[in-house]
Amino acid sequence: MFNNIQYATEVLKKGGLVAFPTETVYGLGADATNEQAISKVFAVKGRPQNHPLIVHIANLQQLNIWATNITKDVITLAKYFWPGPLTLVLAKKATVSNLITGNQDTIALRIPQHPLTLKMLQEFGGGIVGPSANTYGRLSPTTAAHVYNDLGDQVDYILDGGPCTVGIESTIVYINNEQLHILRQGSITANDIYNVLGKNKVNITETTSAIQMPGMIKTHYTPKNPVFLVTTTELSSVVQIMLTRGLKYNYLCLQECPIKPNNFIWQQMPKQAAAYAKNLYAALHSLDTPDIQGIIIERPPQHPSWAAILDRLTRASSGNLSLQTIMTE
Ligand code: TXA
Ligand code: MG
Repeated sequence: MFNNIQYATEVLKKGGLVAFPTETVYGLGADATNEQAISKVFAVKGRPQNHPLIVHIANLQQLNIWATNITKDVITLAKYFWPGPLTLVLAKKATVSNLITGNQDTIALRIPQHPLTLKMLQEFGGGIVGPSANTYGRLSPTTAAHVYNDLGDQVDYILDGGPCTVGIESTIVYINNEQLHILRQGSITANDIYNVLGKNKVNITETTSAIQMPGMIKTHYTPKNPVFLVTTTELSSVVQIMLTRGLKYNYLCLQECPIKPNNFIWQQMPKQAAAYAKNLYAALHSLDTPDIQGIIIERPPQHPSWAAILDRLTRASSGNLSLQTIMTE
């Protein structure tokens, strides 16, 4: 049984680690009031101590345990989007462990949308820290098997809630009085937030410079193999050249394979952004085979609905591959 909520709760209470499903990605959970357990999360992930963690809570009432300065905007956003893929960064209560926040004076909070995890949060009764359940810098897990393959028995229990439905990490918003800053893009866009708050877009900035955010390093979410982004128009020529040169790459693309794939994998992705996001990490996990030179990815469209996906692909990639650079190599 891998859906035993009572057992998961007991493990957490004893200071153990429980990986849990959310709508975005799987989290690596520990009791947010137990510093020993929190330290284990950092150790198992190999994550630097100054990268703050998100605390997952069960309901709006629990906001007060962790945060101060809970403004009208905070309540409006929380009521509208929670449970859901939005993380709010707020001024922290003095009682919050500095281990969670990396010594910053803010705390990141969210209520995730998954029936098993919501039940676990309710039964547990307190906050659960939950970074994505992967080794530091690697691909986020969207199935229980991804978690097990990466972290194995270092996790005491994996709550299996099936594949994640959103597939990329939550949108992170830092709220400082009237000003909102999107620190990490996700399926909830600036426009969605604008529509709910009825704010002038000028008050919502998509910048990470508003606040110190040590976790948002440039290279992130990476497969083991190098990743290259290629434009739609150059893709088929790139494929031909790689084949002619006897170089083996796997491909993640929107278009069909221009030739019959023989000894490489061509993963054709959905043309709709939400469906693409849902499948993205699983596709990258399966394309990350040991016998290749790298993974070539067709750039998705430059449209706001693809912004979060493009952000993750750019972070995963070692750079752009253009015909010109290949030809001169
Ligand atoms: O969808 C998600 O958010 C998933 C699921 C499991 O909830 N969690 C997740 O956690 O993606 P993690 O640790 O992989 O990414 C959290 C990001 C980090 O980049 C970290 O720097 C940022 O949130 N963060 C956490 N607390 C912060 C704070 N107080 N101020 C600024 N950034 C913060
Ligand atoms: Mg992560």
